[in-house]
Amino acid sequence: MSFGLSRGRKLDVGDVGIDRSALPPIASDAAAPGARPDFDPRQWFGSPERDFDLEIGSGKGTFLLQQSEIEPEVNFLGIEWAGEFFRYAADRMRRRQTPNAKILWADATEFVRFWMPSGIVRVVHLYFSDPWPKARHHKRRVVQDATLREFHRVLRPGGELRLVTDHDDLWAWYEEHAARNAELFERLVFERPASAGDGEVVGTNFERKYRREGRPFHAMTLRRR
Ligand SMILES: C[S@@+](CC[C@H](N)C(=O)[O-])C[C@H]1O[C@@H](n2cnc3c(N)ncnc32)[C@H](O)[C@@H]1O
Repeated sequence: MSFGLSRGRKLDVGDVGIDRSALPPIASDAAAPGARPDFDPRQWFGSPERDFDLEIGSGKGTFLLQQSEIEPEVNFLGIEWAGEFFRYAADRMRRRQTPNAKILWADATEFVRFWMPSGIVRVVHLYFSDPWPKARHHKRRVVQDATLREFHRVLRPGGELRLVTDHDDLWAWYEEHAARNAELFERLVFERPASAGDGEVVGTNFERKYRREGRPFHAMTLRRR
């Protein structure tokens, strides 16, 4: 599918965009505890000892670009499965030369489940995730009981999952999942990141587009117990 993002320009992902082929092979029984490969995505960054955040579904990469400049002491890894958005975001980030932001071309739920080590993430950011409104597609939503258990595993103690959506039905889904998994996560009020502009909740491309349409937004933070 082409979204015409490059407008004929040649996009260069440089060493900011990471292809899925850079991931080590996984064993066929990788879902078993302890069976994940010996792999740590923090090693992709020049200063791997810094705090580490994940953004799922980075789109054009605006949040990664803005927030990584404001928080240079945090490494940000975006994960985007649509090739054209991945290339567009990586090219933007390469040109801006932010050393603490990279983006991986992969399915984020698979990456978290099969490759991510436990207890290393400060914040998982999930902003304006695809709502998949039809009931038969709800299983494609990123937030599921199983993914919440995986987020809980990869977050460090006190780490946070931050959720923002404009979609009322997806919000109700988030509220149900937060209530059902209350033993894993404490629900808190969402604090706007420093990169959010005036009147913005977080300041992504989708938020700016939906705001022009006058849509209200919902947000919550789930803190790992
Ligand atoms: C509605 S867009 C929002 C983009 C951005 N967060 C924003 O607010 O502007 C959702 C993005 O998530 C990506 N996405 C959806 N599911 C994904 C998954 N499982 N892994 C990686 N990316 C995913 C889509 O390709 C799309 O770019």
